[in-house]
Amino acid sequence: MISAVGRVIMVSGANRGIGLAIAKNLYKAGFSLSLSARNIDALELVTKSFDKKNILINRFDAFDKNTHKEWVANTINKFNRIDGLINNAGIVESVSVEDEEDNEEALDRMWSVNVKAPLSLTRLTLPFLRKSGYGRVINVASLAGKAVYGPSVGYSMTKFAAVALSHATRLGGWEDGVRCTALCPGYVATDMTKEVESVKVENMVSPDDLAEIVRTLICLSNSASIAELIVNCKPDLVG
Ligand SMILES: NC(=O)c1ccc[n+]([C@@H]2O[C@H](COP(=O)([O-])OP(=O)(O)OC[C@H]3O[C@@H](n4cnc5c(N)ncnc54)[C@H](OP(=O)(O)O)[C@@H]3O)[C@@H](O)[C@H]2O)c1
Repeated sequence: MISAVGRVIMVSGANRGIGLAIAKNLYKAGFSLSLSARNIDALELVTKSFDKKNILINRFDAFDKNTHKEWVANTINKFNRIDGLINNAGIVESVSVEDEEDNEEALDRMWSVNVKAPLSLTRLTLPFLRKSGYGRVINVASLAGKAVYGPSVGYSMTKFAAVALSHATRLGGWEDGVRCTALCPGYVATDMTKEVESVKVENMVSPDDLAEIVRTLICLSNSASIAELIVNCKPDLVG
């Protein structure tokens, strides 16, 4: 296992849901954190008890490539290293095989946030992750990136792509100690699932459990790489 001390981890979408749970867990474990959100004030508020010496708050909007570059540059300016990237920010919109309306824009938005931004951040951070010798990338994909459950296809397409990105990152960075995991949970109890009726909130995966899994993935040795990790809250097609 690799110690948290002195290691710098970037987390996107850290202001709420799974990202906030990850930020809290990693902070408690002693990592230095470079956290990002679209709304800096919201992120400042939820991390106000954190010691500012060990964290950096950044603006990151998946649609604005300048914020990708600025986030990475700010992180290097403050900490002079990057040991991990958690691509957590994501959106879900309804795009089905037989939609009557043209909803290409919704599909484009999901590609941008769920796939293109994680790819961009991976490219920008890889030189530093390689330098670390123990670089870690965790893409919060989804069970929807491993199985298709009906005609709703848009989100699933982007999450399958996020799994593909994870494998390419793992293979590309392997020789320099970079390890990458596609984390694939089923329903997680966050704002994203508040309309879901098929599973009760109390039976969904807890963000805190996912955060604990992320901490473990970051701390595992280079010789214990987990390429994909499926987390079920009910019996499923895959698991
Ligand atoms: N909840 C589930 O059941 C579930 C299951 C499997 C996988 N996932 C994945 O887990 C990740 C986190 O989801 P969650 O459940 O925590 O959802 P959430 O509570 O809705 O949080 C989504 C996060 O993504 C951020 N975000 C959205 N659009 C963004 C953009 N354009 N640029 C930067 N950040 C943006 C949000 O920021 P704002 O606050 O500014 O909107 C928020 O921080 C996502 O990738 C999601 O697909 C979720």
